[in-house]
Amino acid sequence: MNTNHKAAFFNFEKWGEEGKQYVAENQALRDAGVGVEIMSSVLGENTLPADKDFDIAAVFMDSPVNAKTIEALPDLKFIATMSTGFDHIDLAAAAARGIPVSSVPAYGENTVAEFAFALILALSRKVRESSARVQVEHRFATDGLCGFDLKGKTLGVIGTGRIGKHAIQIGKGFAMDIVAYDVFHDDAFAKEVGFPYLELGDLLSRSDVITIHAPYLPSTHHLINSGNIGLVKKGAYIVNTARGAIIETAALRTALQSGQLGGAGLDVLEEEASMKAGDVSVDADLMSLPNVIVTPHNAFNTREAYFRILDTTIENIIAFTKGSPTNIVRG
Ligand code: NAI
Repeated sequence: MNTNHKAAFFNFEKWGEEGKQYVAENQALRDAGVGVEIMSSVLGENTLPADKDFDIAAVFMDSPVNAKTIEALPDLKFIATMSTGFDHIDLAAAAARGIPVSSVPAYGENTVAEFAFALILALSRKVRESSARVQVEHRFATDGLCGFDLKGKTLGVIGTGRIGKHAIQIGKGFAMDIVAYDVFHDDAFAKEVGFPYLELGDLLSRSDVITIHAPYLPSTHHLINSGNIGLVKKGAYIVNTARGAIIETAALRTALQSGQLGGAGLDVLEEEASMKAGDVSVDADLMSLPNVIVTPHNAFNTREAYFRILDTTIENIIAFTKGSPTNIVRG
């Protein structure tokens, strides 16, 4: 095979033989002259590979591609992130070297929204405690495991983009009342589905369950914080499958400890990048609360979504090799 490019796929071992084979033997990549190397580690300044002669890096959210990482890779000409979010890449440092960065804008709107409901249902029906009752305690008894119905409760959706819209549709399927907050109002969708847009404070005080589907931006940093968490309806639940730093962790912990919040389902944590790098450990106080469920940024992770991610990433890489890159992100 005559290859003009080499694409290194980072932390790809975890995607299993099927995924590895899918990229390593991909005919479209071969036709575009792209050789593939599968890397077992993430890409970051502390985990640079010995072999740096790749011009394309395909990374996931767990690769902190900062300025030092980019500087250490002289051959690098293109970064394809296998995710929708791109806050793990220093776009300014990439731009300074003329390295375009592509993302996968849509692969799992339903996938992430379904996971948000997995967390909501796990909290509302005490699934974790129920399973521990039988599988850890070996008791087949329901004392202390009473939950609550979703039907008739109010679901507050923060961010009504691709994922938020699916969450709204699923909430409707559970016969929940929907309220939403977004800086951009999709009034046609709101009318069609039947929900109002509220100010953030009103959403917090009216919702029984709050689910976050906004991107992480300077404007959404600590969107839920110690200044407004007191507005939350007493005992309401919050689910975050968007980005950890949209919620101020200290405010969340205090609200859970005081009972202001009834529980939280977190697929993302404010400190997750540093945790992965081993720089900080998990917030033990938060993790140990019985009404908190934490998952390791797993909302995207279905087989169907995974192959949609790979297909778009491969298309992005091929478009780059043809000189007309697609799905380029801007800071
Ligand atoms: P999207 O771009 O389709 O929708 C985001 C919505 O948030 C838009 O309607 C936008 O107007 C709104 N928004 C922007 N700024 C806001 C603000 N200050 N306050 C309230 N709303 C605001 O994005 P999509 O595809 O729905 O994804 C949402 C987020 O979910 C992504 O940015 C990503 O961080 C996260 N995500 C998490 C995954 C996981 O595995 N846990 C997987 C995929 C995405």
